[in-house]
Amino acid sequence: MAGDSCIMGACMTMQIRAAKPSDIDTIGRLMAASIGDLQRDFLTPAEIDSSRAIMGVDTRLIEDGTYYVAEIDGELAGCGGWSRRRTLYGADVTTGRDESVLDPAVDAARIRAMYTHPKHVGKGVARAILARSEAAARAKGFTRIEFVSTLAGVPLYTACGYVAGERFADSTGGVPVPLVRMAKQLG
Ligand SMILES: CC(C)(COP(=O)(O)OP(=O)(O)OC[C@H]1O[C@@H](n2cnc3c(N)ncnc32)[C@H](O)[C@@H]1OP(=O)(O)O)[C@@H](O)C(=O)NCCC(=O)NCCS
Repeated sequence: MAGDSCIMGACMTMQIRAAKPSDIDTIGRLMAASIGDLQRDFLTPAEIDSSRAIMGVDTRLIEDGTYYVAEIDGELAGCGGWSRRRTLYGADVTTGRDESVLDPAVDAARIRAMYTHPKHVGKGVARAILARSEAAARAKGFTRIEFVSTLAGVPLYTACGYVAGERFADSTGGVPVPLVRMAKQLG
């Protein structure tokens, strides 16, 4: 998917493509910058530090071909994707992962690890990756999406038709990090 758009007079070309193993280092740096900068309005510094321990690259999504990157004028601007596996959130290192495959007849697909580089916020990067992810999940027969979001992700998902549910905290990184369950019925 490629598209040209203009925001506040500045024109750009955005392309969404499947992430490759060779993108992993760049994705890791983008996530670190995004967690550090874009969660400041939602989390305390200690919660942000703990977030770094539980969030990050999930290489299984890249292997599955369900993880995407957005490039703006050739530069990596964002990443995110969906999953047909039970794990709700987290990185390769996160404890309690469940990589069993979901059944679209009875299970909901996941949205996973949406991060935009601070330099590229507000340009529709996450919205475009989310639309691509939902379309791919729908094409595989899923009719519902359920996952766990950071507080910083809630305004994005709400704007894109998701409903917030239970709020809980993950303490595996040290200080408890607040998280929110999100759900959407696919049209
Ligand atoms: C959440 C995040 C991915 C949004 O990225 P983005 O590319 O700036 O989002 P978009 O430009 O596509 O925004 C789409 C819509 O979401 C809403 N939105 C996104 N970020 C918002 C914010 N901080 N406050 C209010 N609304 C927001 C807006 O309605 C926006 O639509 P609009 O531009 O038409 O008003 C980005 O802020 C981020 O990386 N945050 C830190 C990492 C994180 O917590 N990710 C979520 C993991 S579950």
